[in-house]
Amino acid sequence: MLMLAVFHLFFLLVTQASPLDQVLKYIDDHQDDYVKHLKEWVSIQSESGDPLKRDKVIEMVHIAGKAIESLGGSVELTDLGTEELPDGKMIPLPPVVLGELGTDPNKTTVCIYGHIDVQPARIEDGWATDPYVLTERNGKLYGRGASDDKGPVLAWLHAIEAVQALKQELPVNLKFIFEAMEESGSKGLEKILSEKNATYFSNVDYIVISDSGWLSSNPALTYGTRGLCYFLVEVQCAKQDLHSGLYGGVVHEAMTDLIALLDSLVNSTGHILIPDIDEDVVPLTNEEHLLYKTIEFNPEGFKDNIGATRLRHETKEDLLLHRWRFPSLSIHGIEGAFSGPGAKTVIPAKVIGKFSIRLVPDMDPNKVNRQVATYLSQVFAERRSPNKLRITLNNGSKAWVADVTDKQYVAGRRAISRVFGVEAELIRGGGTIPIVRMFQQTMQKSVMMLPIGGAGDAIHSQDESISRDNYINGTKLLAAYLAEISQL
Ligand SMILES: *[C@@H]1O[C@H](CO)[C@@H](O)[C@H](O)[C@H]1NC(C)=O
Ligand SMILES: *[C@@H]1O[C@H](CO)[C@@H](O)[C@H](O)[C@H]1NC(C)=O
Ligand SMILES: *[C@@H]1O[C@H](CO)[C@@H](O)[C@H](O)[C@H]1NC(C)=O
Ligand SMILES: *[C@@H]1O[C@H](CO)[C@@H](O)[C@H](O)[C@H]1NC(C)=O
Ligand SMILES: *[C@@H]1O[C@H](CO)[C@@H](O)[C@H](O)[C@H]1NC(C)=O
Repeated sequence: MLMLAVFHLFFLLVTQASPLDQVLKYIDDHQDDYVKHLKEWVSIQSESGDPLKRDKVIEMVHIAGKAIESLGGSVELTDLGTEELPDGKMIPLPPVVLGELGTDPNKTTVCIYGHIDVQPARIEDGWATDPYVLTERNGKLYGRGASDDKGPVLAWLHAIEAVQALKQELPVNLKFIFEAMEESGSKGLEKILSEKNATYFSNVDYIVISDSGWLSSNPALTYGTRGLCYFLVEVQCAKQDLHSGLYGGVVHEAMTDLIALLDSLVNSTGHILIPDIDEDVVPLTNEEHLLYKTIEFNPEGFKDNIGATRLRHETKEDLLLHRWRFPSLSIHGIEGAFSGPGAKTVIPAKVIGKFSIRLVPDMDPNKVNRQVATYLSQVFAERRSPNKLRITLNNGSKAWVADVTDKQYVAGRRAISRVFGVEAELIRGGGTIPIVRMFQQTMQKSVMMLPIGGAGDAIHSQDESISRDNYINGTKLLAAYLAEISQL
């Protein structure tokens, strides 16, 4: 009798797995379907940077819209008008997919952003297999967009589908915004965000973005990215290129001026020499510094990976701080300089130096622009050069940083420990993802980056991939996040 009761209790425990556990199991059981869907999406060559492939990009937009509709959502394809190509030709911009699923005023509303366009890829670039045929090798799914960002977009849709297939109630209301110009500067996106801020987006509580990767094999939440100011410095000494045999020794050479200007920007220890450039950098607190201690990052491996002999910093903390938390200045190139093989004795008439500064909170791009212009003009004046100097300031983007104690981050951390059984790594990015800040600035809501891609996914590169584990466990993570955020 007792035996029977115990057995009965055991039976109850087994059959009454929590709703989320059922979802996670469902996701495991359907992983081959999810890989098949990714294969279908990867086969569409939605390269937003190639005007000849614009119809593919638009086809991808329709496929994504249909996928939301098949979950029962309503979809609006928002027209963005046309794009003017450098030759003056006009082509249509792909519409933005706006989707809505659930309007229960008692539920939290989560807005999911993703992009369905991709970077260019051709097998001749050195891919092991056709970039547009998803191919599984050694547990990895290779294909353009597998990790950036078709895999993560599908992972969201699959997470929702799993909840519905089990006849569970969706824990949140969802708004989707999927764009197809992300790899080409997100043309038109900001306009849509501001136009629809007071209407379509007004009830959004949280914005979550899964479009980046982990730093190591540990699951991570990304809470900051750096901003960017990009500069062009032009020096002109003559109206045409000159022969150094005829003019060497008599003209003030543009290239010499430019090299001196570029050399005045940063010293050999990496300090930016522009006065007061870092006066607005938020001081590092002890608490924040502690976050860096627990992050898994191997300085030696990082160095060896790029084939560098020595880096500017040695410890894990210093390296990560300088990648994410402090500004940096990089010199990118010189247009107009002789750069071919051989020994040409030219004095270039006009050269344009290109450099940029990665910004961190609370640096302001407009102020950085002014500081750079003032400083370079002064360095140039001291050279007493008669040449023409022109500094072009581009619209910079500010850095983004989120409050990691915000509810959304609590939900993200809980979801990670639920699915992976480990603590989330809190990381930042050294690069610039303008849309993240755009969302935060326009909507004034909490934004979180919840990546599912791995550290070695080679996005934008040859042999981009996402591991099957990341793709499937990532789908579980997104399902767990929706369950967790609904309870906060
Ligand atoms: C929202 O919650 C209130 C209070 O619990 C309840 O009266 C109302 O019916 C709920 N609305 C919906 C749409 O479920
Ligand atoms: C967008 O709407 C939110 C309220 O949903 C508001 O707080 C915010 O200020 C608005 N943004 C702009 C730029 O008006
Ligand atoms: C670079 O500049 C910083 C700040 O002015 C200074 O502390 C450092 O010694 C300089 N390094 C070199 C190699 O000159
Ligand atoms: C940034 O772009 C806007 C619109 O194109 C322009 O009005 C503004 O002057 C620009 N700002 C800077 C600092 O270049
Ligand atoms: C991730 O997925 C793989 C295969 O699906 C599984 O073996 C592994 O345990 C998962 N990892 C975690 C931490 O859940």
